[in-house]
Amino acid sequence: MAADYKDGDLMMEGVKLATVASVMGTPVYCYSRGRIEAAYRAYEDAFACLPGTMICYAVKANTNQAVIGTLAALGAGADVVSEGELRRALKAGVPTSRIVFSGVAKKPSEMEFALKAGIYQFNVESEPELMALSKVAARLGLEASIALRVNPDVDARTHEKIATGKSENKFGIPWRRARACYRLAGSLPGIRVQGIAMHIGSQLLSLEPYREAYSRLAEMVAELAEDGIKLESIDIGGGLGIAYEDGTVPPSQAALAALAEECLGRLDARLIIEPGRSLVGAAGVLLSEVIYVKSGESRDFMIIDAAMNDLIRPAMYDAYHGVKPLKTKATAVRSYDIVGPVCESGDTFAKSRVVPEVKAGDLIAFLGAGAYGAVMAGTYNSRLLVPEVMIAGDSFGVIRPRPTYDDLIGLDTPWQVIDEKEERSA
Ligand code: LLP
Repeated sequence: MAADYKDGDLMMEGVKLATVASVMGTPVYCYSRGRIEAAYRAYEDAFACLPGTMICYAVKANTNQAVIGTLAALGAGADVVSEGELRRALKAGVPTSRIVFSGVAKKPSEMEFALKAGIYQFNVESEPELMALSKVAARLGLEASIALRVNPDVDARTHEKIATGKSENKFGIPWRRARACYRLAGSLPGIRVQGIAMHIGSQLLSLEPYREAYSRLAEMVAELAEDGIKLESIDIGGGLGIAYEDGTVPPSQAALAALAEECLGRLDARLIIEPGRSLVGAAGVLLSEVIYVKSGESRDFMIIDAAMNDLIRPAMYDAYHGVKPLKTKATAVRSYDIVGPVCESGDTFAKSRVVPEVKAGDLIAFLGAGAYGAVMAGTYNSRLLVPEVMIAGDSFGVIRPRPTYDDLIGLDTPWQVIDEKEERSA
């Protein structure tokens, strides 16, 4: 993980995390730029065996401009799933020629925005979406380069809420209909058939599901060639897991690349990969202060100033995040239920977690919080969104300040009746 102790202080690169907490207040997210860059380079080096591979960062994992910008500066493309994400990628400097638009239901207005921007590829997930894209492109006199995202019906062996490659999931075109869908795509105005795409799930800790899915993709590419459809791009999605718990060893980028080469290398197509978590997850921590230590009937509660609205992964997926004190002063350890102040029992980060003893005012870090942390945060209980900081070497800088209560409340407007006729004519 991105934080290690030096002389009793938890450090990220050359910065004491306790210093960040005292300057910024808590809770606060911190990301190591060096760690993000190293993760990108690991993909780049690994996929050098498949020249031309495009690494499109799945920006949903962390959409901060500084994070996308760090990756864009290294040559990363972007995988986006909404107009908002596309706008963020463009603003951060990702070239349109390296942007892939995924997502299960792009609206015509989003398609129009992306077509005008001139993105590299739309990953289309259904026949109705294909028809809609054709209609929008034809109306604009533009051509949409598409891949069909197929559903290979493979079990990714991950948490059910983040598995996407089984036939019962909402994602992708059913395997048996894919060939016919390609024929349909070839007949539609405004559509240029370019590739094939898949994404079977997230936080994969085994390569076996990838082997199954890549092999199926290779079969499909061969079948399509029989139909006279030659594909230029193969998008293998994202999903490589990270080590949230000590002792977990996720597959390496090199092993993934070797597998891709073995299964898909001979197909003479450009590979696209869409990693999210494995680029930014381990690079981030969420810092929080202990507000109270409360003795319950049967357990001790460590009540902290971060809550489920700030980092929802434990509440939503029973996800494990390592917890470390920012200073190693305690010698005794103790078991706590680590909870936030939100009025729900689900506002629990960890149960019976054995950590060095803490008292009110102590600071802790949740590890592995760089992906699907800040982006999934909300303002439930009228809590302010958590600020974000990026650390590089011995320096740190704010990349999103803490909003004010005026920002939070000011978006509400007094009740105003809408004149429908005026709205329509406007
Ligand atoms: N490509 C597509 C089409 C995706 O849907 C996703 C993630 C990715 C790429 C990136 O996957 P990654 O490399 O990050 O695994 N909120 C959940 C994870 C949801 C993942 C959704 N799709 C979590 O906190 O675990």
